[in-house]
Amino acid sequence: MPSVIAVKNLKKAFGAFKAVDGISFTVQKAECFGLLGPNGAGKTSTIRMLYGYSPISDGELYLFDQRIRSEWRAVKNRIGICQQEDNLDPDLSVRDNLLTYARYFNLTAADARATTDRLLDFFALDNRAKTTIRELSGGMKRRLVLARSLINNPDLLILDEPTTGLDPQSRHQVWERLEELKNGGLTILLTTHYMEEAARLCDRLVIMNQGRILVEGQPQELIRQYVGREIIEIAPFDPELLTCLQNRGLYFETFGQRLVIHNQADVGLFAALSEVFGGRRCTLRPATLEDVFLHLTGRELRE
Ligand SMILES: Nc1ncnc2c1ncn2[C@@H]1O[C@H](COP(=O)(O)OP(=O)(O)O)[C@@H](O)[C@H]1O
Ligand SMILES: [Mg+2]
Repeated sequence: MPSVIAVKNLKKAFGAFKAVDGISFTVQKAECFGLLGPNGAGKTSTIRMLYGYSPISDGELYLFDQRIRSEWRAVKNRIGICQQEDNLDPDLSVRDNLLTYARYFNLTAADARATTDRLLDFFALDNRAKTTIRELSGGMKRRLVLARSLINNPDLLILDEPTTGLDPQSRHQVWERLEELKNGGLTILLTTHYMEEAARLCDRLVIMNQGRILVEGQPQELIRQYVGREIIEIAPFDPELLTCLQNRGLYFETFGQRLVIHNQADVGLFAALSEVFGGRRCTLRPATLEDVFLHLTGRELRE
Protein backbone atom coordinates (compact mmCIF):
# COMPACT_ATOMS: atom_id res chain seq x y z
CA MET A 1 0.00 0.00 0.00
CA PRO A 2 1.43 3.43 -0.83
CA SER A 3 2.12 5.51 2.27
CA VAL A 4 1.27 9.16 2.83
CA ILE A 5 4.44 9.73 4.87
CA ALA A 6 7.60 7.63 4.82
CA VAL A 7 10.49 8.76 7.01
CA LYS A 8 13.76 6.86 6.72
CA ASN A 9 16.64 7.37 9.12
CA LEU A 10 15.88 11.09 9.21
CA LYS A 11 18.33 13.40 10.96
CA LYS A 12 18.49 17.07 11.86
CA ALA A 13 21.69 18.56 13.20
CA PHE A 14 22.27 22.06 14.53
CA GLY A 15 26.06 22.19 14.46
CA ALA A 16 27.27 19.24 16.50
CA PHE A 17 23.90 18.89 18.26
CA LYS A 18 21.56 16.21 16.89
CA ALA A 19 17.96 17.38 17.37
CA VAL A 20 16.66 14.42 15.32
CA ASP A 21 18.94 11.43 15.37
CA GLY A 22 17.89 8.84 12.80
CA ILE A 23 14.15 8.25 13.06
CA SER A 24 11.98 6.09 10.76
CA PHE A 25 8.21 5.67 10.54
CA THR A 26 5.43 5.47 7.97
CA VAL A 27 1.90 6.81 7.99
CA GLN A 28 -0.90 5.32 5.89
CA LYS A 29 -3.86 7.08 4.35
CA ALA A 30 -6.62 8.07 6.82
CA GLU A 31 -4.42 7.32 9.82
CA CYS A 32 -3.85 9.70 12.69
CA PHE A 33 -0.22 9.27 13.69
CA GLY A 34 1.27 10.85 16.82
CA LEU A 35 4.76 12.12 17.54
CA LEU A 36 5.02 12.25 21.30
CA GLY A 37 7.86 13.34 23.48
CA PRO A 38 8.90 15.78 26.19
CA ASN A 39 10.03 19.30 25.34
CA GLY A 40 13.18 19.17 23.25
CA ALA A 41 12.54 15.61 22.00
CA GLY A 42 12.78 16.76 18.37
CA LYS A 43 9.09 16.80 17.40
CA THR A 44 9.04 20.28 15.86
CA SER A 45 12.39 19.73 14.14
CA THR A 46 10.94 16.59 12.52
CA ILE A 47 7.76 18.34 11.44
CA ARG A 48 9.63 21.31 10.01
CA MET A 49 11.55 19.00 7.70
CA LEU A 50 8.26 17.37 6.70
CA TYR A 51 6.71 20.57 5.49
CA GLY A 52 9.82 21.82 3.80
CA TYR A 53 10.58 24.62 6.27
CA SER A 54 13.87 23.22 7.47
CA PRO A 55 16.48 21.41 5.33
CA ILE A 56 17.02 17.69 5.95
CA SER A 57 20.46 16.98 7.44
CA ASP A 58 20.45 13.29 6.52
CA GLY A 59 18.09 10.45 5.64
CA GLU A 60 15.03 10.47 3.38
CA LEU A 61 11.52 11.76 3.54
CA TYR A 62 8.70 10.85 1.17
CA LEU A 63 5.24 12.41 1.06
CA PHE A 64 2.70 10.71 -1.23
CA ASP A 65 5.65 8.66 -2.53
CA GLN A 66 7.46 11.80 -3.71
CA ARG A 67 10.96 12.47 -2.48
CA ILE A 68 10.79 15.72 -0.56
CA ARG A 69 14.38 16.76 -1.23
CA SER A 70 13.67 17.02 -4.95
CA GLU A 71 9.87 17.01 -5.37
CA TRP A 72 8.69 19.43 -2.71
CA ARG A 73 6.76 21.59 -5.16
CA ALA A 74 4.72 18.62 -6.36
CA VAL A 75 3.31 17.91 -2.92
CA LYS A 76 3.14 21.21 -1.08
CA ASN A 77 -0.41 21.97 -2.20
CA ARG A 78 -1.60 18.67 -0.72
CA ILE A 79 -0.45 19.53 2.81
CA GLY A 80 -2.06 21.63 5.52
CA ILE A 81 0.13 22.91 8.34
CA CYS A 82 -0.77 24.12 11.79
CA GLN A 83 2.43 25.34 13.41
CA GLN A 84 3.16 25.37 17.11
CA GLU A 85 2.82 29.17 17.31
CA ASP A 86 -0.32 31.14 16.37
CA ASN A 87 1.14 33.09 13.45
CA LEU A 88 -2.00 34.91 12.35
CA ASP A 89 -1.94 38.35 10.74
CA PRO A 90 -2.96 40.71 13.58
CA ASP A 91 -3.98 43.50 11.19
CA LEU A 92 -6.61 41.42 9.42
CA SER A 93 -10.02 40.15 10.46
CA VAL A 94 -10.73 36.48 11.05
CA ARG A 95 -12.25 36.09 7.60
CA ASP A 96 -9.48 38.03 5.83
CA ASN A 97 -6.84 35.87 7.47
CA LEU A 98 -8.35 32.89 5.68
CA LEU A 99 -8.96 34.69 2.38
CA THR A 100 -5.39 36.04 2.29
CA TYR A 101 -3.94 32.63 3.03
CA ALA A 102 -6.03 31.12 0.24
CA ARG A 103 -4.06 33.24 -2.24
CA TYR A 104 -1.02 31.01 -1.71
CA PHE A 105 -2.94 28.21 -3.39
CA ASN A 106 -4.62 27.92 -6.76
CA LEU A 107 -8.14 28.66 -5.57
CA THR A 108 -10.54 30.83 -7.53
CA ALA A 109 -11.92 33.81 -5.61
CA ALA A 110 -15.32 32.11 -5.44
CA ASP A 111 -13.76 28.86 -4.15
CA ALA A 112 -11.74 30.75 -1.55
CA ARG A 113 -14.87 32.49 -0.27
CA ALA A 114 -16.91 29.29 -0.18
CA THR A 115 -14.15 27.34 1.61
CA THR A 116 -13.60 30.20 4.06
CA ASP A 117 -17.28 30.29 4.99
CA ARG A 118 -17.46 26.52 5.33
CA LEU A 119 -14.39 26.46 7.62
CA LEU A 120 -15.60 29.38 9.74
CA ASP A 121 -18.81 27.48 10.25
CA PHE A 122 -17.03 24.17 10.98
CA PHE A 123 -14.81 25.77 13.64
CA ALA A 124 -17.67 27.81 15.17
CA LEU A 125 -16.09 31.10 14.14
CA ASP A 126 -18.83 32.24 11.76
CA ASN A 127 -20.08 34.87 14.20
CA ARG A 128 -16.51 36.21 14.56
CA ALA A 129 -15.77 36.64 10.86
CA LYS A 130 -15.23 40.40 11.12
CA THR A 131 -13.44 40.36 14.49
CA THR A 132 -9.76 41.34 14.57
CA ILE A 133 -7.23 38.81 15.84
CA ARG A 134 -6.43 40.82 18.99
CA GLU A 135 -10.00 40.39 20.21
CA LEU A 136 -9.93 36.58 19.94
CA SER A 137 -9.46 34.23 22.89
CA GLY A 138 -6.64 31.67 22.77
CA GLY A 139 -9.10 28.94 21.82
CA MET A 140 -10.52 30.97 18.94
CA LYS A 141 -7.04 31.77 17.61
CA ARG A 142 -6.15 28.11 17.63
CA ARG A 143 -9.37 27.20 15.82
CA LEU A 144 -8.61 29.85 13.23
CA VAL A 145 -5.09 28.51 12.70
CA LEU A 146 -6.64 25.06 12.25
CA ALA A 147 -9.21 26.44 9.82
CA ARG A 148 -6.44 28.15 7.87
CA SER A 149 -4.46 24.90 7.62
CA LEU A 150 -7.44 23.36 5.81
CA ILE A 151 -7.99 26.16 3.29
CA ASN A 152 -6.41 24.19 0.43
CA ASN A 153 -8.45 21.07 1.23
CA PRO A 154 -5.29 19.08 2.02
CA ASP A 155 -4.81 15.30 1.90
CA LEU A 156 -2.42 15.46 4.86
CA LEU A 157 -2.84 17.67 7.91
CA ILE A 158 0.25 18.34 10.03
CA LEU A 159 -0.43 19.65 13.53
CA ASP A 160 2.31 20.78 15.91
CA GLU A 161 0.86 20.79 19.45
CA PRO A 162 -2.62 21.87 18.36
CA THR A 163 -4.04 22.27 21.85
CA THR A 164 -1.12 23.43 23.99
CA GLY A 165 -2.20 26.25 26.29
CA LEU A 166 -5.93 25.79 25.72
CA ASP A 167 -8.49 25.45 28.49
CA PRO A 168 -10.29 22.08 28.77
CA GLN A 169 -13.42 23.27 26.94
CA SER A 170 -11.43 24.60 23.96
CA ARG A 171 -9.28 21.48 23.91
CA HIS A 172 -12.29 19.16 23.78
CA GLN A 173 -13.83 21.30 21.05
CA VAL A 174 -10.67 20.97 18.95
CA TRP A 175 -10.57 17.20 19.57
CA GLU A 176 -14.13 16.85 18.33
CA ARG A 177 -13.31 18.72 15.15
CA LEU A 178 -10.17 16.67 14.56
CA GLU A 179 -12.11 13.45 15.11
CA GLU A 180 -14.63 14.57 12.54
CA LEU A 181 -11.87 15.30 10.02
CA LYS A 182 -10.27 11.96 10.74
CA ASN A 183 -13.56 10.12 10.30
CA GLY A 184 -13.86 11.89 6.95
CA GLY A 185 -10.65 10.14 5.84
CA LEU A 186 -8.09 12.90 6.34
CA THR A 187 -4.56 11.71 7.18
CA ILE A 188 -3.21 13.51 10.24
CA LEU A 189 0.25 13.81 11.76
CA LEU A 190 0.09 15.25 15.24
CA THR A 191 2.65 16.20 17.84
CA THR A 192 1.57 16.57 21.42
CA HIS A 193 2.71 16.17 24.97
CA TYR A 194 -0.83 15.62 26.15
CA MET A 195 -1.22 11.89 26.56
CA GLU A 196 -5.00 12.09 26.76
CA GLU A 197 -5.01 13.79 23.37
CA ALA A 198 -2.77 11.13 21.85
CA ALA A 199 -4.75 8.24 23.35
CA ARG A 200 -7.98 9.69 22.03
CA LEU A 201 -6.92 10.72 18.53
CA CYS A 202 -3.96 8.61 17.44
CA ASP A 203 -4.29 5.23 15.72
CA ARG A 204 -0.57 4.74 16.11
CA LEU A 205 2.18 6.80 17.65
CA VAL A 206 5.85 7.00 18.49
CA ILE A 207 7.31 8.26 21.75
CA MET A 208 10.50 10.23 21.12
CA ASN A 209 13.21 11.36 23.48
CA GLN A 210 16.43 13.21 22.64
CA GLY A 211 15.95 12.88 18.91
CA ARG A 212 15.28 9.15 18.89
CA ILE A 213 12.19 6.96 18.79
CA LEU A 214 11.82 4.89 21.94
CA VAL A 215 8.68 2.94 21.01
CA GLU A 216 6.03 2.72 18.32
CA GLY A 217 2.56 1.22 18.49
CA GLN A 218 -1.15 1.63 19.09
CA PRO A 219 -1.93 3.49 22.34
CA GLN A 220 -3.71 0.56 24.06
CA GLU A 221 -1.06 -1.89 22.88
CA LEU A 222 1.73 0.28 24.34
CA ILE A 223 -0.12 0.56 27.65
CA ARG A 224 -0.53 -3.21 27.93
CA GLN A 225 3.02 -3.86 26.84
CA TYR A 226 4.87 -1.36 29.03
CA VAL A 227 2.83 -0.86 32.20
CA GLY A 228 -0.02 -3.39 32.19
CA ARG A 229 -3.74 -2.78 32.48
CA GLU A 230 -3.78 -1.34 35.99
CA ILE A 231 -1.62 0.78 38.24
CA ILE A 232 -1.38 0.91 42.01
CA GLU A 233 -0.22 4.21 43.50
CA ILE A 234 0.75 4.59 47.13
CA ALA A 235 1.51 7.98 48.67
CA PRO A 236 3.11 8.55 51.02
CA PHE A 237 4.77 5.15 51.23
CA ASP A 238 6.60 3.45 54.12
CA PRO A 239 10.14 2.07 53.75
CA GLU A 240 8.73 -1.36 54.74
CA LEU A 241 6.64 -1.30 51.59
CA LEU A 242 9.81 -1.25 49.47
CA THR A 243 11.10 -4.38 51.19
CA CYS A 244 7.73 -6.06 50.84
CA LEU A 245 7.58 -5.37 47.08
CA GLN A 246 11.19 -6.40 46.55
CA ASN A 247 10.54 -9.68 48.37
CA ARG A 248 7.60 -10.36 46.10
CA GLY A 249 9.74 -9.52 43.05
CA LEU A 250 7.37 -6.75 41.93
CA TYR A 251 8.32 -3.91 39.61
CA PHE A 252 7.80 -0.40 40.97
CA GLU A 253 8.98 3.19 40.53
CA THR A 254 9.26 5.85 43.22
CA PHE A 255 9.31 9.60 42.88
CA GLY A 256 9.20 11.86 45.90
CA GLN A 257 6.62 10.54 48.34
CA ARG A 258 4.85 8.48 45.70
CA LEU A 259 5.30 4.85 44.71
CA VAL A 260 3.83 3.37 41.53
CA ILE A 261 3.44 -0.34 40.81
CA HIS A 262 3.16 -1.38 37.15
CA ASN A 263 2.45 -4.65 35.38
CA GLN A 264 1.39 -7.01 38.13
CA ALA A 265 -0.96 -4.46 39.71
CA ASP A 266 -4.39 -6.03 40.18
CA VAL A 267 -7.28 -6.19 42.64
CA GLY A 268 -5.66 -8.99 44.67
CA LEU A 269 -2.38 -7.15 45.19
CA PHE A 270 -4.26 -3.92 45.85
CA ALA A 271 -6.35 -5.57 48.58
CA ALA A 272 -3.29 -7.13 50.19
CA LEU A 273 -1.29 -3.89 50.18
CA SER A 274 -4.25 -1.80 51.37
CA GLU A 275 -4.66 -4.09 54.34
CA VAL A 276 -1.02 -3.90 55.40
CA PHE A 277 -0.17 -0.31 54.43
CA GLY A 278 -3.45 1.54 54.93
CA GLY A 279 -6.26 1.74 52.38
CA ARG A 280 -6.43 5.54 52.29
CA ARG A 281 -2.96 5.82 50.82
CA CYS A 282 -3.44 3.17 48.10
CA THR A 283 -5.19 3.75 44.78
CA LEU A 284 -5.94 1.22 42.04
CA ARG A 285 -6.66 2.78 38.65
CA PRO A 286 -6.58 1.91 34.93
CA ALA A 287 -3.15 2.47 33.36
CA THR A 288 -2.88 5.33 30.87
CA LEU A 289 -0.54 6.40 28.11
CA GLU A 290 0.87 8.95 30.58
CA ASP A 291 2.16 6.07 32.71
CA VAL A 292 3.93 4.66 29.64
CA PHE A 293 5.33 8.06 28.76
CA LEU A 294 6.73 8.73 32.25
CA HIS A 295 8.04 5.19 32.53
CA LEU A 296 9.94 5.53 29.24
CA THR A 297 11.06 9.16 29.30
CA GLY A 298 11.67 9.58 33.02
CA ARG A 299 10.35 12.14 35.46
CA GLU A 300 13.03 14.81 35.50
CA LEU A 301 12.12 18.28 34.23
CA ARG A 302 12.93 19.34 30.65
CA GLU A 303 13.82 22.56 28.87
N1 LIG B 1 17.25 26.42 15.19
C1 LIG B 1 17.80 25.73 16.19
N2 LIG B 1 19.10 25.87 16.52
C2 LIG B 1 19.66 25.15 17.51
N3 LIG B 1 19.00 24.24 18.26
C3 LIG B 1 17.70 24.05 17.98
C4 LIG B 1 17.03 24.78 16.94
N4 LIG B 1 15.73 24.35 16.89
C5 LIG B 1 15.61 23.42 17.87
N5 LIG B 1 16.78 23.24 18.51
C6 LIG B 1 17.03 22.29 19.61
O1 LIG B 1 16.70 21.00 19.16
C7 LIG B 1 16.06 20.24 20.18
C8 LIG B 1 14.72 19.75 19.70
O2 LIG B 1 13.85 20.87 19.56
P1 LIG B 1 12.37 20.72 19.02
O3 LIG B 1 12.38 19.96 17.77
O4 LIG B 1 11.78 22.08 18.99
O5 LIG B 1 11.71 19.86 20.19
P2 LIG B 1 10.19 19.60 20.56
O6 LIG B 1 9.34 20.19 19.49
O7 LIG B 1 10.08 18.13 20.69
O8 LIG B 1 9.98 20.28 21.89
C9 LIG B 1 15.98 21.15 21.39
O9 LIG B 1 17.05 20.86 22.27
C10 LIG B 1 16.11 22.53 20.80
O10 LIG B 1 16.67 23.41 21.74
MG1 LIG C 1 7.86 21.62 19.53
